[in-house]
Amino acid sequence: MIVQSPTVLESQPLIEVRHLKVHFPVNRSLTGRPRAWVKAVDDISFSICKGETFSIVGESGCGKSTTGYALLGMLKPTAGELYFEGRPLESDDEEGRRMVRRQMQIVFQDPFASLNPKMCIGESIAEPLRAAGTPQEKIPGLVADLLDMVGLHRSYADRLPNQFSGGQRQRIVIARALAMQPKLIVCDEPVSALDVSIRSQILNLLLKLQQELGISYLFISHDLSVVRHLSDRVAVMYLGHIVELATAEELFTNTFHPYTKALFSAIPRIEPERKKAHRFILQGDLPTPLNPPRGCPLITRCPFRQSICDQSMPELQEIHPGHSVACFRAKEFGPFTSFSESFSEK
Ligand SMILES: Nc1ncnc2c1ncn2[C@@H]1O[C@H](COP(=O)(O)OP(=O)(O)OP(=O)(O)O)[C@@H](O)[C@H]1O
Ligand SMILES: [Mg+2]
Repeated sequence: MIVQSPTVLESQPLIEVRHLKVHFPVNRSLTGRPRAWVKAVDDISFSICKGETFSIVGESGCGKSTTGYALLGMLKPTAGELYFEGRPLESDDEEGRRMVRRQMQIVFQDPFASLNPKMCIGESIAEPLRAAGTPQEKIPGLVADLLDMVGLHRSYADRLPNQFSGGQRQRIVIARALAMQPKLIVCDEPVSALDVSIRSQILNLLLKLQQELGISYLFISHDLSVVRHLSDRVAVMYLGHIVELATAEELFTNTFHPYTKALFSAIPRIEPERKKAHRFILQGDLPTPLNPPRGCPLITRCPFRQSICDQSMPELQEIHPGHSVACFRAKEFGPFTSFSESFSEK
């Protein structure tokens, strides 16, 4: 697999997310008033540079997809500001917002669910082109070019989705996302539904397209070895918060947050002795975002907790240039340096 250098970090941000909150109202009363809120994303800030792969990792339910959907305008943020190339997304009129949103596309986990089973794939790829007002006579040529770009034969345009393998279907979904010449693609678990043997083909396709077209990716995945190889920077989320953010190289070598330590130590290892030595398991269950703990979100499970940890929320603070951690005691206990070994074992 190809490893990218994080040189893009110096370039201008394509996306800026400031203090984003997405709270879902639940348990509505008869009058329709919510009785409670799920704090799926609770005050996160980050930026994505042009041509960068920015990944989000964390346990199921920590708010990864919600972050991506809010960025794409599929969910309305409860609070916070989103900027695209320096312009606030909300300041534009409806047409302006639509134009910007076309430049941000998404590739979901399940390519079959993303395609209309009754529509030939040429039509599926042409749909967004038509919606954007592309003249009819140009569409067949553009569809053929998009199929070329994702490594599928032009003659496949007349076929239905069920005539393709899972990997080919994901290529079709990527071609459709590329139709709008996006500057950002949110990849939400883009290879987890695919056979292991074809995962790397799709990941290499994403990298090739990034190198050719300069696209930025917001990459969401549970597969930490993929994240390590593909990403420029990585944010670790826990219960709606970013708890650690660094370049992939730095994060997987010098980990400071106890949650990141636990997350990385869950990576399967081959040698049983080293397996035991590296194991760091958090006690207790993941709290619900309906009723998150006061103070540090990890307080209910952290072996390093002190009284300060339940008094206030630790802010994400730079511990080294480009490496931020939200933990009062990070410097005392970190960095935990042994994780890179687990990857070299693979
Ligand atoms: N529409 C909704 N209404 C209420 N709660 C929601 C809604 N959408 C998501 N949630 C909750 O918000 C939290 C974050 O969900 P999200 O889908 O962002 O998690 P995730 O990190 O993408 O998880 P996974 O890895 O399983 O995909 C979860 O607790 C989820 O149950
Ligand atoms: Mg998700």
